[in-house]
Amino acid sequence: MSINSISEPALEIIGRNPLKGEVKISGAKNSALAIMAGTLLCADDCRLNNVPCLADINTMGLVLASLGVKIHKNGSTWEFNSKDLKAVKAPYDLVSQLRASFFVIGPILTRLGFAQVPLPGGCAIGSRPVDLHVRGLQAMGATVIIEHGVVNASVNKRLKGAKIFLDYPSVGATETIMMAATLAQGQTIIENAAREPEIVDLANFCNSMGAKITGAGTDSIVIEGVNRLHTTDYDIIPDRIEAGTFLVAGAITKSEILVTSLNYDHLTPIIAKLAEIGCQVVREDEITLRTIPGELKASDIETLPHPGFPTDMQAQFMALLTISEGNSLVTETVFENRLRHVAELKRMGANIKVKGNSALVSGVPILSGAPVMATDLRASAALVLAGLAADGKTIVQGLQHLDRGYENLEQKFQKLGAKIKRIYHSNK
Ligand code: UD1
Repeated sequence: MSINSISEPALEIIGRNPLKGEVKISGAKNSALAIMAGTLLCADDCRLNNVPCLADINTMGLVLASLGVKIHKNGSTWEFNSKDLKAVKAPYDLVSQLRASFFVIGPILTRLGFAQVPLPGGCAIGSRPVDLHVRGLQAMGATVIIEHGVVNASVNKRLKGAKIFLDYPSVGATETIMMAATLAQGQTIIENAAREPEIVDLANFCNSMGAKITGAGTDSIVIEGVNRLHTTDYDIIPDRIEAGTFLVAGAITKSEILVTSLNYDHLTPIIAKLAEIGCQVVREDEITLRTIPGELKASDIETLPHPGFPTDMQAQFMALLTISEGNSLVTETVFENRLRHVAELKRMGANIKVKGNSALVSGVPILSGAPVMATDLRASAALVLAGLAADGKTIVQGLQHLDRGYENLEQKFQKLGAKIKRIYHSNK
């Protein structure tokens, strides 16, 4: 592929430039998406601060607007008013673009007694069913009929609190059930709940509106239903995956950089794994980390629900392991099809063998720049990281994935001194 054959925007990266300076982390995409759905629970104004400027966030905004929500944006502060929430069907073309938009089902159902949301369908990293969301709502008394690709959920009067055991600690299902339970009658207990920081953020947000949720961050969440929620002004947590991506950038380019405006406690598995690989991460102050690069050596990784190693960092760490001395085994257990970046990393000279959901990465001394195609959001970040470390020029295509989840990625890297720019060539 020559550069002249590129018809969509791409990132051009000239690798092997040391980085220096400081990068500021934006608000957490996954928290913001769930909390935006959570604003539907309240008929009064909800103000969210630290909302990242991302394609996925804009799509969620369009979903909410289609449901009758009035939205006012001012930079990273968004105001929502869902007084006129309608139980109309969330539009398929939006829900199919953004799986997280399915999360509106819990709030609409609990507030209006009826919700129609299209099934989100599969995506690049696996089939991603919603059976756990649906079973949770059914346990609370909802009747759920899935026909013609649409989930129709209804309830006579009000959802009722229930004891729900999740077969798997699904982030989305925990969020759906937690939101639905805030306005249900009585107590709901979610056992084997997801423990991700984004769950805690959603619970804190709901509590700031008067919900009664305890135990978020543990595997047992208790929600005492209340009759109504009130207005709030809430700050979204920093994005731990964006922070992790920049920490890996420090490691892969052997650079000392400062990553700031983050939450240290959310990064424990990432910091521990970086230290094992050979890059120390030290705490500069409450919200800032410094990378202290060292010789990179192999390490095994297995993705797990929080507090295990996050699946959303698997691709970025694989990029790092491609140039770490020795053999590393990377095993993906959360999603069924999340190793598609391997083929692209191999185009850059990585030595990786895949068997099932595991990849054996044998470190090579250096990667070589190449044209590559991003296959999903985190894979695109992995290719950027590989490009920063590679010899020569890398062209990363498929930026629609990157733009879903990284705010101003290339500007942030430019500020750190990386040679990276967006190019718009066309052969038309
Ligand atoms: C969320 C994150 C995503 C992250 C993932 C795991 C958002 C918007 N996205 O996705 O970035 O990678 O958590 O940390 O927050 N599953 C079922 N049935 C269900 C629900 C899930 O089988 O009803 C399966 C999924 O197919 C997947 C696994 O459970 O294999 C984990 O999914 P889940 O934790 O629900 O992830 P999401 O909420 O979709």
